[in-house]
Amino acid sequence: MRVESQEGISEFRLAEMGAGHLDAVVAIEREGFADPWPRRDFEDVLDRRDGYSLVFLNGKRVVAYAVGFLVNGEFHLANLAVHPAFRRRGLGRRFLAAVLSGLSGRNADVATLEVRVSNRSAIGLYRKLGFRTVAIRNGYYASPAEDALVMLKALNGRFSVWLDGKVTIARQVNGECSIRRSWDRNE
Ligand SMILES: CC(C)(COP(=O)(O)OP(=O)(O)OC[C@H]1O[C@@H](n2cnc3c(N)ncnc32)[C@H](O)[C@@H]1OP(=O)(O)O)[C@@H](O)C(=O)NCCC(=O)NCCS
Repeated sequence: MRVESQEGISEFRLAEMGAGHLDAVVAIEREGFADPWPRRDFEDVLDRRDGYSLVFLNGKRVVAYAVGFLVNGEFHLANLAVHPAFRRRGLGRRFLAAVLSGLSGRNADVATLEVRVSNRSAIGLYRKLGFRTVAIRNGYYASPAEDALVMLKALNGRFSVWLDGKVTIARQVNGECSIRRSWDRNE
C-alpha cells in the first residue's frame, strides 16, 4: 500500500500489535488523547484472547494503531489513533478499512465503538467508513466529562439490512417499530 504522508510517499504494512510496538503506541496515545490509556491497559489488551489489535508500520515505525475485541459476533473498536505527522493524508481511513477487512472469517457481524461527541475528525472518519450513530451514552467519558456517540457498522451487507433483522426482533418483543424510524435517518 502506498500512501502520501507529510514525509513523502512511503510503504505501509499492517501487523498484529506486539509488546515491541508499545513504546511507540503509548507515545502516540499520549499526544492524541486528553485522557490517554496508560501503558498497562495496552499490555492487558495484548494478553486477552478476544483481543484484535493491529498497527500500521512504515518500515519499523508505528504510524497508527487500533485496539479491539471480538465478542459474540461483535467487533468493539476500543482505541484508534494515527501518528500526528501522518494525519489528514487518508492514512486513518486506509488503516481502519484494512482493520475491518481483516475481520472477514472471524465471525464478526457488526463493528461498534464509542467516540466523544466533540471529536469531529474521528466522527468524520467513522462516517466515511460507513459507521452510523445509533445512541448517545450520557456522561460516558471523564477528564473532561463528555457524552459519547455509540456508532455501529454492519460488516456483512448494508446497515439497513443488518438493522432490519434487529428491528424485527425488537418488534416481536415490544410490538412497536419506532426504533427503526429514528435510526433510518442516519443512512
Ligand atoms: C481521528 C484520526 C484517527 C483520523 O486519522 P487521519 O489519518 O487524520 O484521517 P484521514 O486523513 O484518513 O481522514 C478520513 C476522514 O476523517 C475526517 N477527518 C480527519 N481529520 C479531520 C480533521 N482534522 N477535521 C475534520 N475532519 C477530519 C474527514 O472526514 C476525513 O475525510 P476527508 O479527508 O475526505 O475529509 C486522527 O485524527 C487521530 O489519531 N486523532 C487522535 C486520536 C483520536 O481521536 N482517535 C479516535 C478515538 S475514537
